[in-house]
Amino acid sequence: MSDETRPEGAARAAGAPGDGHGRTAAVIPAAGRGVRLGPGAPKALRTLGGTPMLIHAVRAMARSRAVSLVVVVAPSDGAAEVRNLLAEHALPERTDVLVVPGGETRQESVRLGLDALPAGYTSVLVHDAARPLVPVDTVDAVVEALREGAPAVVPALPLADTVKEVEPRPAGEPEPVVATPERSRLRAVQTPQGFDLDTLLRAHEKTAVNGEGATDDAGMVEKLGVTVLLVPGHEEAFKVTRPLDLVLAEAVLARRRATDAY
Ligand code: C5P
Repeated sequence: MSDETRPEGAARAAGAPGDGHGRTAAVIPAAGRGVRLGPGAPKALRTLGGTPMLIHAVRAMARSRAVSLVVVVAPSDGAAEVRNLLAEHALPERTDVLVVPGGETRQESVRLGLDALPAGYTSVLVHDAARPLVPVDTVDAVVEALREGAPAVVPALPLADTVKEVEPRPAGEPEPVVATPERSRLRAVQTPQGFDLDTLLRAHEKTAVNGEGATDDAGMVEKLGVTVLLVPGHEEAFKVTRPLDLVLAEAVLARRRATDAY
């Protein structure tokens, strides 16, 4: 691992799923403050099982043999800290890692990550640092669907809760319901979201950053009129957003360590 792209070499495994398909990189936006988790370090730098969430997320991408480069988008004032962190933790030799400073919104951060991709990459996975425990099978399922020709692929799960559309009111105030979408037609989407690189670049070019910017890359691609395909997600790919999610993540990690020498 280095913060510069290593020349291609023997370390890139022969027979890896990338062969004959163009290369796949992963961009990890990790520049968010994570205010919903409460006070403390930026979310990606909080630890799970003693290891920063970001390191878990980088390892989760690097575990896929299809991924030869991971671009980490760090908090704008934290790139040096993130480079140090990556240097302190073991990562697979065959995976290169680049660190770039992020932007004000997730959309800007992803764009900055895409801008850093060297020539030769035809597919990209965009993966939230806040989903540190996504299993490699989910990553590989996304890559596989891309390889089969889908321009945009997203892991997703059916919803447990019924969802209401509301007329939003300030936090804490009662909100009138506008509609109840049919639950069986709804899915909760996760990451990594996989894209044909040119398609995602086109989506970012066409979508202006307004307010908080887009929170979902696939949504930007849908606006181009391109079909986005869903593949089965995994319950362990949940997003660590609120304090209770940290408890759940610690429990998942402890179970993995007990059962699979993780
Ligand atoms: O805030 P939220 O949980 O939706 O953030 C999703 C991901 O986007 C997180 O991994 C976060 O670090 C990242 N992000 C970013 N740059 C921002 C805001 C969020 O990279 N300005």
